[in-house]
Amino acid sequence: MLKNDLFLRALKGETVNRPPVWMMRQAGRYLPEFMVLKKKYDFFTRCRTPELAAEITVQPIDIIGPDAAILFSDILVIPQAMNIEVQMKDGIGPWLPDPIRTPAQVDQVLVPNIEETLGYVMEAIKLTKERLDNRVPLIGFAGSPWTIMCYAVQGQGSKNFDKAKEFCFTQPVAAHMLLQKITDTTIAYLKAKVAAGVNAVQLFDSWGGMLSPVDYQEFSWQYMQQIIDALKEETQVIAFGKGCWFALQEMSKSGAAALGIDWTCSARNARYLTGGQITLQGNFDPSRLLSPPSEIKKMVKLMIDDFGKDRYIANLGHGILPNIPVDNAKAFVDAVKEYRS
Ligand code: CP3
Repeated sequence: MLKNDLFLRALKGETVNRPPVWMMRQAGRYLPEFMVLKKKYDFFTRCRTPELAAEITVQPIDIIGPDAAILFSDILVIPQAMNIEVQMKDGIGPWLPDPIRTPAQVDQVLVPNIEETLGYVMEAIKLTKERLDNRVPLIGFAGSPWTIMCYAVQGQGSKNFDKAKEFCFTQPVAAHMLLQKITDTTIAYLKAKVAAGVNAVQLFDSWGGMLSPVDYQEFSWQYMQQIIDALKEETQVIAFGKGCWFALQEMSKSGAAALGIDWTCSARNARYLTGGQITLQGNFDPSRLLSPPSEIKKMVKLMIDDFGKDRYIANLGHGILPNIPVDNAKAFVDAVKEYRS
């Protein structure tokens, strides 16, 4: 039995004394304890070694004290397993030396056996569950097919993912074939994660907001919907689309348990667009964690008042930044824990 199930109760829409809190990308570079391991082991070694992944996952639980853990891994282990080479370069980030630009390359992309290619993730989940010892739930995650395709086609991070969009608009048949392969792989992957013990899953559509509302339907949302349909009987799915406020109404009818909101959308607008019944998660501006702790605490109180304490999970509007002082991250989490309505 979980000692702290506040996060799962909020996902179910139950009445709570205070909302649960966690931070996207909470396992990472703002923690000195993480930097020690980063210096010793390269990125994918950290992902592929269950002991390291488990240790990094549990670090923020011990140091900051959020109500949920998120498994240390990366969305880009999926393209790797699909026969697309992915490197992580210091100062650049993800680097794919052979980006996909032709239908022939799409044919070379595999829908892999998950146990053979990503079994290390399942081992990391089992070990993390042991280390967590039922203190808090564990969240599993995947990138949305569109966000994965952004990297697979662009070959690296980008301000506008112009090459990924060009691929969709000039070679839509090949683009859809690739998106479907990523979708099929992601469904099998997330089902394996649930079987290995994660308590909920989040889909990160980090670059959904690069698309117009019409293109979003065609190249992103329909694939997210397939994943939600395939998972919703087995676990609770959180759908986070950065910059995708325009799709919130449709997302609220998808069967997702909760929707992630970024900081450009007000709580009132998010509640209005989603009909007031679904759990919402977000949406503190990650840069606002640079404010002094006393100000962070005031702003967190206002944020919770705006969303309401029920059907709500306090979080950032996107991942925590590397330059955030640990005390400020802790002030954010503490402010939610101290909340009284
Ligand atoms: O949330 C967590 O703490 C769990 C771990 C996690 C990582 N990546 C670890 C990581 C999660 C959930 C992700 C998801 C992820 N990865 C997303 C979606 C979320 C988002 O932020 O939009 C995306 C787009 C990626 C792709 C990715 N991986 C990028 C763009 C980078 C470079 C970041 C940078 O500025 O260096 C990564 C590397 C990465 N993934 C790091 C971490 C802690 C930092 C690099 C390192 O540790 O060596």
